[in-house]
This record gives sequence, C-alpha cells and structure tokens, in this order.
Amino acid sequence: MKLFLDTASLEEIREGVRWGVLGGVTTNPTLIGKESSDFLPRVKEICSIVDGDVSIETVGDDTDNLIRQGREIAQIADNAVVKVATTPNGLGATRALTDEGIKVNMTLNFSATQAILTAEAGAYIVSPFLGRLDDIATDGLRLLSDICEIYAVQGYTTKVLAASLRHPLHVVEAARMGADIATMPFKVFESLVKHPLTDAGFKRFSDDWKEAMPHLGELLPSMQEA
Ligand code: E4P
Repeated sequence: MKLFLDTASLEEIREGVRWGVLGGVTTNPTLIGKESSDFLPRVKEICSIVDGDVSIETVGDDTDNLIRQGREIAQIADNAVVKVATTPNGLGATRALTDEGIKVNMTLNFSATQAILTAEAGAYIVSPFLGRLDDIATDGLRLLSDICEIYAVQGYTTKVLAASLRHPLHVVEAARMGADIATMPFKVFESLVKHPLTDAGFKRFSDDWKEAMPHLGELLPSMQEA
C-alpha cells in the first residue's frame, strides 16, 4: 500500500520525501487555501518534488468545464492526477477524460454504489472518505472493506485510495483490507513511526555505547562520528 500525504505544505512534503517512503500527494481546495500561496506555482512545485501521483482537484460541477479543467491539470506535469467529485456531471467528465488517457481520481466518495459508478466510468482512483463518515457515526472502514471486496470480485482495476484518515489505526486497517493507497495528514504520517519503546530502547543503547566506547578499541570510522 502506498502512503500519500494529504497536504499542500512544501515543508511537510519535503519531510516525507526525506523519509524515503512517500508514494504521492493528494490536495484539495481547502488544503491549497490554507497555504495562501499562488495556486499554479505551488502545484507545479509539489509535482516536481514528489516521485508519484499528485492529485489536483477541479472546482465547479459543469461537465464541459470539468473536462477543460481536467485537460489543463493534466498538462501541469506527468504525475498530475485530476480530482473530480462524485456527481453525475463528474462521472460524465471522468468518462471523457479517461477516454482521452487522462488519469482521474474520483473524490468525495461515501458509498459502495458511488464506488461502482466510479469504476464503471473508468476512473484511475476512487477515494472513499473514511473519517468524514466516522464523524457522522457511520463506519468508514466498513465502506472501505465493501469497496475492496466489490472491486476484487468484479475485477475492477480502479485503485482504492483510503482518504480522510484520522489516526494510525485507519492506516493499519486500510492496509489489512487491501487498499492500494492511504492518504493522510502529516500528523498521522508522523505518528506511524512513533513508539515509546523505540525511543526508550534507542536512548538506552546510545547511553550504553557511550559508556563502553572508551574500552572497545578499534571502531569503524563512521561510528566514531555518530
Ligand atoms: C483526499 O483526497 C482528501 O483531500 C482528504 O483525505 C480529505 O480529508 P479530511 O476529511 O480530513 O478533510
């Protein structure tokens, strides 16, 4: 399962790249707005620093205009993916863009029926929003599990991207269910690596090493600098 950051922050994206595990980025109008920077230079820069898909969202709900936006977004970079909301007009735009060879991520998915339509429209990615369902006391993970099962049974090739993740267990369950991608805020991404026993164990080994070092004779040169 690929790990994506759900952000438009260059600082967060650069940190993810530094870790060597970042598979891509998703953005949306809210995340772009938070950064208050020029839209086009920002999305171009994100595409240039990420080695993987970068989803950039369309706005409005007119099929012809969505198709025009999709074509323009696809021109931004080779790794740009067009995000389209799951509406009747969005489905029509997705079919047209897909037929032109443009990759579409159908977003704001909240039901298995929407996910079936998304696959039938030929989308590259379907994005079920788990956290927003949990927020209204509906089981987001249940939806993800339904979609993974239906896609496997039907042989749909649309990638399943678990979105709107709120905590590390969402990520673990998404991996267990077979999601292709999980996108998350930096706070959740960071929490994946944290463990108090790792911190305590690391400190103990460092302290013990420093104490023993003077009696260990010849060391590797890099170890002397650690
Ligand atoms: C995904 O593509 C969306 O941008 C995102 O996951 C939405 O998450 P939120 O519900 O935390 O805003």
